[in-house]
Amino acid sequence: MELLNMQGISKSFFKNKVLDNVHLKVKEGSVHALMGENGAGKSTLMKILAGVYKADSGEIFIDGQKVEILSPTAAQKLGIAMIHQELSALPEMTVAENIFLSREPGKLGLVDYKKMHEDTAVLMKTLKIDISSKKKMKELRVADQQMVEIAKAISLDARIIIMDEPTSAITDKEVDTLFEIIRSLTKQGKSIIYISHKMDEVFKICDEITILRDGSFIGTWPASELDDASLIKQMVGRELKDVFPKVDVPIGDNLIEIKNLSCHNQFEDISFNVRKGEILGVAGLVGSGRTEVMQTIFGLAPSDEGQIIFEGKVLNTKTPTDAIKHGIAFVTEDRKKEGIIPDMGVGQNVTLPFMSQFCSKFINQYLGFIVDRRKEADTIEKQIKALGIKTKSSKQTIASLSGGNQQKVILAKWLTGDPSVLILDEPTRGIDVGAKAEIYKLMCEFVSRGKAIIMVSSEMPEVMGMSDRIIVMSNRKLGGELNRSEFSQERIMDLAVSHL
Ligand SMILES: Nc1ncnc2c1ncn2[C@@H]1O[C@H](COP(=O)(O)OP(=O)(O)OP(=O)(O)O)[C@@H](O)[C@H]1O
Ligand SMILES: [Mg+2]
Repeated sequence: MELLNMQGISKSFFKNKVLDNVHLKVKEGSVHALMGENGAGKSTLMKILAGVYKADSGEIFIDGQKVEILSPTAAQKLGIAMIHQELSALPEMTVAENIFLSREPGKLGLVDYKKMHEDTAVLMKTLKIDISSKKKMKELRVADQQMVEIAKAISLDARIIIMDEPTSAITDKEVDTLFEIIRSLTKQGKSIIYISHKMDEVFKICDEITILRDGSFIGTWPASELDDASLIKQMVGRELKDVFPKVDVPIGDNLIEIKNLSCHNQFEDISFNVRKGEILGVAGLVGSGRTEVMQTIFGLAPSDEGQIIFEGKVLNTKTPTDAIKHGIAFVTEDRKKEGIIPDMGVGQNVTLPFMSQFCSKFINQYLGFIVDRRKEADTIEKQIKALGIKTKSSKQTIASLSGGNQQKVILAKWLTGDPSVLILDEPTRGIDVGAKAEIYKLMCEFVSRGKAIIMVSSEMPEVMGMSDRIIVMSNRKLGGELNRSEFSQERIMDLAVSHL
């Protein structure tokens, strides 16, 4: 018998029906993938199971017994734990405090911190995760924050563990650790519901796959009966011929040149150039210093030595404002912190940094500019359409969009700004295959206008599929550079470990 059976689940937000008669049956001791495009309803279905939302109709059975899950606490009591897609840790608290939040060890309301740290250390050790219990969450890399969330869910000792894109920010090595953890959990009879847009992962770890499309249930299959093509077809509802639609465009002169750039303890002696029309991939292990170099180019962090030369002139970017003025844009890795204004509408999130484009006439110092709302609205509509952003209107708050759609809004924003050099840090993290292909098309279109893209990415198929050249960073230094004809996974890996 199934451990979990969700039958006929429907859910609307206001008048927007996001789940329509969806079923999910999960066997005991199995890993069950829940797949579908951005906005298909995966997270919503799981939040219903975790007691965050209440379904409008439908029934849930655990071990054949009908249950009502009216709150997260009720879900926890039933043995359900969820690792949320959006990291939800409290930044000022320590790792241990986050893990034991609202179930701190102690007596009479006094927290036994010593025990809490000891328990955390033991937990981390059994999971082979190397993170100090005393560190504050805000001091951790995104990858480590994600590992803490995973540890927390496992420490709840649940029977059903929902992992909503658990690997979006972690490294290959950490993915291996996670998969080891998952295998030992299923051996104990626990079940995992696994949401990911990374198909290789799904085929590696999952036993069964349920597919949702636009809030509807498409079907459940044993993983062995599907392959990449059939899975994509069921998710997207059509065949997707080309996932990496790389177009060759004429390559022009140097647009930006980095010369011997160093920053104490961050990176050392980095040199590379990017030409007009080029997509430069930046590969390397997480922690190799890739993000730090990009932050320095964008004026978010200083450099000790070296030069940034932009169209032949030495740039002195001390702040992001300087960089933006010169036409350099940066889509960061930590989008929640830096990328969006959650409570503002989708439209405003797209146009806010570039309002000057829509200001037509200066009235006076009290009234300021007249904003061309028509032009602004047109731009917003155009971008929503181009990227296929799933939103009810441009006024819907960005926080209420599905994860992948939030991501598209951020990309839309920077493409609106019309920069010369666009730096993208893990641009398609959490984005479904169909939308990925759309974003890759937009990237090609972008560089065909004589612009350039620097793309930091940990996804091998993506860097190899979309770059004209790849530079590889290794242990905060430059490991090497490859031309398109030299690309291979092995060569990139070799260069990535060359300075370790
Ligand atoms: N709190 C909310 N208020 C209004 N609409 C919402 C809310 N939460 C989700 N939605 C809508 O429900 C739909 C499904 O979203 P959901 O987050 O479940 O998608 P998903 O399959 O998890 O997508 P992704 O792969 O991008 O994470 C989306 O159209 C989204 O905008
Ligand atoms: Mg989701």
